[in-house]
Amino acid sequence: MSQPELEAIHRAPSFSLIIFGASGDLAYRKLLPALFTLACNDLLPENYVLLGAARTPYTDDAFRDHIRQGVEEFGRIKPDECDRWQEFASRLYYQHIQYDERADFQTLKQRLEELEKAHQTAPNRLFYLAIPPSIYPVVVENLGEVDFAQEQEGHFARLIVEKPFGTDYNSAFALNQHIHRYFREDQVYRIDHYLGKETVQNLLVFRFANAIFEPLWNRHYIDHVQISVLESVAVGKRGGYYDQAGVMRDMFQNHLMQLISLTAMEPPNEWDATQLRDEKVKVLRAVRPPRDGALRTNTVRAQYRSTDGSGPTYRLEPGVDPHSETPTYAALTLYIDNWRWKGVPFYLRSGKALAAKTTEIYVQFKEVPHLLFEAQGVDLAPNALSICLQPHEGFHLRFQTKVPGAGMRTQDVDMRFNFATTFGDKSLPEAYERLLLDAVLGDASLFSREDEILVSWQIIDAILQGWERGDGPPLTFYEPGSWGPITAHNMLAVWGRSWSVDCFKSEGAKTVG
Ligand code: BG6
Repeated sequence: MSQPELEAIHRAPSFSLIIFGASGDLAYRKLLPALFTLACNDLLPENYVLLGAARTPYTDDAFRDHIRQGVEEFGRIKPDECDRWQEFASRLYYQHIQYDERADFQTLKQRLEELEKAHQTAPNRLFYLAIPPSIYPVVVENLGEVDFAQEQEGHFARLIVEKPFGTDYNSAFALNQHIHRYFREDQVYRIDHYLGKETVQNLLVFRFANAIFEPLWNRHYIDHVQISVLESVAVGKRGGYYDQAGVMRDMFQNHLMQLISLTAMEPPNEWDATQLRDEKVKVLRAVRPPRDGALRTNTVRAQYRSTDGSGPTYRLEPGVDPHSETPTYAALTLYIDNWRWKGVPFYLRSGKALAAKTTEIYVQFKEVPHLLFEAQGVDLAPNALSICLQPHEGFHLRFQTKVPGAGMRTQDVDMRFNFATTFGDKSLPEAYERLLLDAVLGDASLFSREDEILVSWQIIDAILQGWERGDGPPLTFYEPGSWGPITAHNMLAVWGRSWSVDCFKSEGAKTVG
């Protein structure tokens, strides 16, 4: 972090963060470990209060012990690796509440005011909804009705909302309307943790701080783009939620739409939340989802199923309907109807229980216009850039070189940059560290705006509704531990293309299963 950025943080006002759902997994694995790391790195203002609120009865001390375990297990910095644990724990409190009890919110308010006095924090408040989406409305209403959304003179009240934000366009629209009864849009911070990932932000630096790629970043030079977000984990214990959501709502509406918009958007004029999000919305509005006949050729939906019972089968997971048609894998061909991208296919895929966890953006450039070396039977692989987002962050650029010796034999080689080698293994902050800090500082650049959410739902709804009407391809199956269904491979193969796993291959990682 640069000196001016550090100074901005130290000038940041004191604040309170109220986490609804504080007894849950997200707080345990992500939020509190991220806050502790921020505290250890001296990135929080001098005075702050962290108040957990949830239905499980905890005393303050029992809650602190519970969170300490979470930080030990999941923290980037562990309690005994930094001398701040005592101080951090002394700012951590718990309030037992029922989400639908207005009176409990009044009590919460009194408690918060006492804590603010005790810790000399100004009434700058962030309310974090780490709760099931079905109870967002009642919590928002109770917050609003006890005047928590009102900003006191010179202070802020912000609402941080986790994904999923709605289950389709209409429900997202209704949720926005409901939130806006109490909170203005600029008070709302919708989380997509992919935006907090360093490598996702680096995509913008890569595109807009280097002169060499941007002139090529268009339909004249790019043959196609692939975005793969592959996971090796199966659905596991999340069957109840996942069977309603499926991969389209769980991954595409949010994370994949973020990645396509950052890859394809026009440069904003400035690094500023409004301009950045304007450009993202603009490009998403130009995305043309496949319709009618194209739904069969340009979309794939599939489920993992172990034929010999040696691996997991989606329909046998706890909480999943044994006849479920919910896809755990999808692949899409999308086109972006604007001057930069007209006619360039964007292939997107994501799924669970696959061979490896790997997230890659692969940009394949067009072939050279005239093949000088073709006459000698040399097959030239086109130039390609792979942006590796996780787990091994870096870039690869593939180009041709001459094989030493007689003749003009060529071979493709890979030029690599790896974050860990350059910046060290421990250098990449967790997504939630960045997002929580930005929310405290009031920088909404890495949070989804209302219109961004709605336009991405329009794209996803068009596909899901087409599938529901029966216009889509049949559901197919893939073996857990494989690279996905054959149908997804065929979707590219008909065009003489194939899915890249360059980021995975280059790390020499082992597949699972
Ligand atoms: C979450 C999804 O938003 O993202 C999960 O609900 C998924 O199903 C997870 O596993 C993937 O995140 P990451 O950071 O591990 O790529």
